[in-house]
Amino acid sequence: MTQTYDAIILGGGAAGLMCAAIASQRGRRVVVLEKADQPGKKILISGGGRCNFTNLNTAPDRYLSANRHFAKSALSRYTASDFLALVERHGIAWHEKTLGQLFCDGSSKQIVAMLLEECRAGGADIRCDQDVTHVAHGNGQFTVTANGADITAAALVIATGGPSIPKMGATGFAYDLARQFGLKVVEPRPALVPLTLGGDDVLFRDLSGVSAPVDARCGKTTFHEAALFTHRGLSGPAILQISSYWRPGDMVEINFLPGRPRGWLRDAKRAAPRASIRSLLKDALPHRLAATLADRLGHEGDLQNLSDKVLDDAENQLLRWPFCPNGSEGLAKAEVTSGGISTAELSSQTMEAKRVPGLYAIGEAVDVTGWLGGYNFQWAWASGWAAAQEL
Ligand code: FDA
Repeated sequence: MTQTYDAIILGGGAAGLMCAAIASQRGRRVVVLEKADQPGKKILISGGGRCNFTNLNTAPDRYLSANRHFAKSALSRYTASDFLALVERHGIAWHEKTLGQLFCDGSSKQIVAMLLEECRAGGADIRCDQDVTHVAHGNGQFTVTANGADITAAALVIATGGPSIPKMGATGFAYDLARQFGLKVVEPRPALVPLTLGGDDVLFRDLSGVSAPVDARCGKTTFHEAALFTHRGLSGPAILQISSYWRPGDMVEINFLPGRPRGWLRDAKRAAPRASIRSLLKDALPHRLAATLADRLGHEGDLQNLSDKVLDDAENQLLRWPFCPNGSEGLAKAEVTSGGISTAELSSQTMEAKRVPGLYAIGEAVDVTGWLGGYNFQWAWASGWAAAQEL
């Protein structure tokens, strides 16, 4: 027997649960079909188990998308403060870690429990272990076949996320479904992902485990955060951030001494002529990193014996140390997938497909990707909320 709802939400992750909670509390009969054995699995592992659930500095310019204006409407109507108010209403203790990033004091489980409680309050029907085998559309109705049963509704919400971390069951299902309805998909790419080094840069892998605050730059974009050397290449927040802007073949430049004024090596030569580049680096950086950089610069001896030109060249190199990553660790390690369902296909107000009334796409499935630090969850909440106003 076919069951009928007002809306079917595919995917019980961050965006799907938010959408279900709000729509059901608006009186809509909503069913969430989740493939996994429990909802919100990515929320559970997020933020090292403490879920970095939003960012106080949320702003549209912290999101990548083919249309940089697309996220504005949803983000301005459902803000970080709105989500924080929900968290507080549920008595969940939180703290700001750094750079506006808000985390649970306790556990990510509290965020999932909160969303499920909100869904319960609205009477949303949440079903796990669902195998969606067919989606059809006709006469203004969507029919989804899951676990052999048909469910129909006038609205269908694609909230199945992106394909990053496939070992958690993530797939490109959202893109396949979008294409089925003729919607374009912007090429998906791993984002917020460690970069790998080869060639000459491979020597830096010996620094595995060493971390330092740097400026990491790719093109016109720079992030000031920590970089971490790994046995495969580069990671840490600064690198994860810049990876979203990096394309194969691009150079990533690292300033190992951010905040130093131009000419500081010449100044050092005057102030401490018997110091060396090696000793100055050792004072400023983790010792293994200092030693590697000094080895590679190759200008040994007292500063007083080095020409200003040599010092300027060394300084320029330290301020813009060029790395040419030979790849990234891919979707297996990417925190998110950039690209996705083209924003050109969707209303930025409602998330509804312009050419397929009743079809919505929200969360990571859409070509909107946030910076590291709670921005991606804020997009999931905001886009889920925006769609829920229309269901
Ligand atoms: P999400 O992936 O949450 O949900 C999609 C759901 O759809 C899943 O439950 C999935 O099982 C289900 N699904 C998939 N295919 C299906 C199908 N065929 N049928 C039915 N259901 C299907 N972001 C942030 O802001 N702060 C943070 O701290 C972190 N930390 C973090 C850590 C790690 C390790 C990862 C991998 C990611 C993060 N993120 C993050 C990113 C964040 O998890 C991500 O942006 C959101 O979960 C996206 O929400 P969605 O609801 O769009 O997808």
